[in-house]
Amino acid sequence: MKYMFDTVNIKTIKDLSEIFPIEGITSNPSIVKKEGKIDFFKHFREIRKIIGMDKTLHIQVTAKDCEGMLKEAKAILDNVDNKVSIKIPVNEEGLKAIRILKSKGISVTATAIYTKAQGLFAMEAGADFIAPYFNRMENMDIDPREVITTFANMIEKYNYPTKILAASFKNIGQVNDAFECGAQTATVAPEILQTALRMPAIQKAVDDFTTDWETIFGKVSIADL
Ligand code: G3P
Repeated sequence: MKYMFDTVNIKTIKDLSEIFPIEGITSNPSIVKKEGKIDFFKHFREIRKIIGMDKTLHIQVTAKDCEGMLKEAKAILDNVDNKVSIKIPVNEEGLKAIRILKSKGISVTATAIYTKAQGLFAMEAGADFIAPYFNRMENMDIDPREVITTFANMIEKYNYPTKILAASFKNIGQVNDAFECGAQTATVAPEILQTALRMPAIQKAVDDFTTDWETIFGKVSIADL
């Protein structure tokens, strides 16, 4: 069970990776848009420096045709580093690109997955990760729990090396559900993880413990006893 941050905000990644046990960073053009017109490759090299080579970094292509996707993949691998997992949306052109990239041993994250068929095609094409869009499926009355369970069962039954990297979450309950259905990894907007720890009940428990301590010992810390 691994968490990733679905953001490319450098400060957020720096600050919050000291708190949350993250396994990697994912992005797409909409996430990049939030940062404005960044120096694209330099920005991702900086992210890589923060997270290190042992974590995964997922960068999405923007071209709509296979040839363009392959050119962009090469540019990403040449200008960021050759360990980046190239994110490709699963449609016809994308599947073609996934198969070519995998034949060259390049890591691929198959994304924009709304259906069982997309995920199964991507698995069979050799994708390292498949990214089912949890909340977007719910919005379309598709059951993401059933879709993820099917992927997990197929991976186990046929021994695929593919990992489920669930994405598109609006709350922590959805993230927990994705894990329970068999997703090995979930990529989450950092605010969703922060919100999960900011329940008033948690803060009240902490405050009550402090009050009880101070009733007996005053403002003295255990470290100063
Ligand atoms: O990682 C995919 C994700 O960014 C899509 O999320 O919130 O746009 O549905 P969302």
